Amino acid sequence: MGIGFIAAIIMVLVTASPPVYGGAYSMEELADADYLSGRTTFQQRCSACHTLNEGGLGIVGPNLWRLFSRPAGAGEEYAFSDVLRQADFVWSPGRLASWLLDPPGFLPGNRMLIPEPVPEEDLAPLLSFMMVETGDATWPRPEITIAKPDPGTPLSERFPSFWNHLMTNTSRFRLVSDQGEFIFEAYFNEDGSVSANQATIRGFWHVDERDIFCYALYGLPYQPSEYVECFPVAAMAIPRFAPELWESAPAEGVVAFGGILPGRPQAQSSATSRDSVDE
Ligand code: HEC
Repeated sequence: MGIGFIAAIIMVLVTASPPVYGGAYSMEELADADYLSGRTTFQQRCSACHTLNEGGLGIVGPNLWRLFSRPAGAGEEYAFSDVLRQADFVWSPGRLASWLLDPPGFLPGNRMLIPEPVPEEDLAPLLSFMMVETGDATWPRPEITIAKPDPGTPLSERFPSFWNHLMTNTSRFRLVSDQGEFIFEAYFNEDGSVSANQATIRGFWHVDERDIFCYALYGLPYQPSEYVECFPVAAMAIPRFAPELWESAPAEGVVAFGGILPGRPQAQSSATSRDSVDE
């Protein structure tokens, strides 16, 4: 038993420590990566929960300014999970790549809920963009001009995948607090209203000039009975289905999980458009 047992322990230790891809990205490779494509990946996959700029807000996740020179789970401003707080390493592009390729497997028990791994080909541009924006790059920010969309263009044309996804499917919410759990389904409508599968629940939504999508829900038979939440539109540009895609804290002691389910009941979509004409 002796040797086999020890070998098994060594195997477990080896396989259980997070893989390190650190060597896989040279600074030259990161400096040459496509900044704009990294920016798009960040907006679509990370911006709903993180800011990168100095003094930026923690949203669902911590602000990431100077990420690549700080230890994992450090700082008092953000309530990290114990696994991240106890992890004993400084973030490097390689460590972050390992996490994003295998979100649940890297540091099991971490609380970062991302719906799928980041595709490997998107990683170098993403890491490069993040290094520039967190102040950790050793190269200057590339000189690029980002064209502002014409404000007259309807949202359905500017963000077609966001629009189709949200307007044709069902948003599912699960609120959890010491009152227990409350689940309902909501339907975002083209006229800016929100209806739900429970008659008392109503709402409205809006996209502002910075392309931040905000919605308000009211009439919930729960505390809080109303709340407002905002995301960058870009964070919703990749159509995804799962009962829980994002997490937020609409009030002290309440956690909201939001997700998207395919389709919506027929009656709901037609009833809603009639309602909005009547109102
Ligand atoms: C749904 C929200 C959400 C999304 C989307 C998200 N994160 Fe996170 N992130 C979190 C949360 C929550 C934590 C804290 C995890 C913990 O404490 O276990 C976190 C932690 C982190 C940390 C650790 C910071 C530190 O100081 O140790 C990094 C790095 C990070 N996220 C990067 C990313 C990147 C890059 C993306 C996009 C590919 C992303 N996150 C997408 C919620 C999110």
